Amino acid sequence: MSARIVCLPGDCIGPEVMAVAQRILRELAPDLELEDHLFGAAAIRATGDPLPDETLEACRSAAAVLKAPIGHPEFDAADVRPEQGMLRLRAELDVYTNLRPAKQGAVDLVIVRELVGGLYFGARGVREDGTVFDTCEYHPSQVERIARRAFELARSRGGRLTSVDKANVLETSRMWRRVVHEVAAEYPDVEVEDLLVDNAAMQLASAPEQFDVLVTENMFGDILSDLAAAMTGGLGLAPSASLGDAGPGLFEPVHGSAPDIAGRGIANPAAMLRSTALLLEHGLGRYAEARALEDAVDVALGTTPTPDLGGGATTAEFTDAVLQALAASD
Ligand code: NAD
Ligand code: IPM
Ligand code: MN
Repeated sequence: MSARIVCLPGDCIGPEVMAVAQRILRELAPDLELEDHLFGAAAIRATGDPLPDETLEACRSAAAVLKAPIGHPEFDAADVRPEQGMLRLRAELDVYTNLRPAKQGAVDLVIVRELVGGLYFGARGVREDGTVFDTCEYHPSQVERIARRAFELARSRGGRLTSVDKANVLETSRMWRRVVHEVAAEYPDVEVEDLLVDNAAMQLASAPEQFDVLVTENMFGDILSDLAAAMTGGLGLAPSASLGDAGPGLFEPVHGSAPDIAGRGIANPAAMLRSTALLLEHGLGRYAEARALEDAVDVALGTTPTPDLGGGATTAEFTDAVLQALAASD
């Protein structure tokens, strides 16, 4: 079945890893229509807006959106920044469930990050006296819907859910904890525990194999997912899927645009390819192709590691290894 995939190539190493994903998709699923659109720093340069209307409309009507990382040092201090387009895209598509799996050896966990609320989207500004503020805001309905997604996921996996908050300090966290336990009543088969976020960071760093599914608010999830990635092979490996209740999902690596290695042909495309596998699975329901891609990436990671993994392979050599593994599994 043909489907239209909107591709957002992003900034710095973004276009390098997007080119890999597209090359693999053309082999693996040649019927897919891949359509590039302007986004991030490139869109600011061309239109003044990181998320032009035309790009947003294309995303809304797509079967799924595949996004490479955005962000560019040129705009770090600017009023209009690539990251603003990214937050707006997540909010416009209402992809509130961000799945960030981390798997290696005995560790096999998923962080379910709430993606369209909290500190990223609360009131912000500058008071007359010069005080600058960002506020963390959640409506109970936002917590309820993400909690339900997390319980469903836990039920389909190991049956254990850890809800991460800062209920010893924050009002939003106290409400979060109350709502999670209300929803828990509907899932008696899932074992649920609460964990304070500082302790969660310590536990993730010292004994990550204890976790199955973790659910947490936007900012905590941002930080803990980089930590979980570091514990399971590094940022070059960590994918994500952002899903709403209806409409297209958004699939992107956890890592950023890595300006420090851009243009050198050494970016690890594994996170981008694993995000592509999540798109095939969650976005299109094409499970066999998703599995084939995941397996081929695992093979290439073993035979042809890039420098971030201590190897010497270039992005192109890694890509060839993935294509070879795919051909071998045909
Ligand atoms: P980063 O994730 O880009 O890089 C952190 C470190 O990891 C760097 O040393 C980088 O070289 C390395 N790294 C990341 N991805 C890699 C890969 N695929 N292969 C090999 N090494 C890799 O984080 P940062 O440097 O803090 O942020 C850079 C820019 O990215 C910022 O503008 C930030 O806002 C943006 N960002 C974007 C996204 C996104 O679009 N999803 C996510 C995070 C950060
Ligand atoms: C991520 C990134 C983004 C976030 C930035 C680039 C806005 O760090 O996807 O983890 O904080 O959500
Ligand atoms: Mn992040």
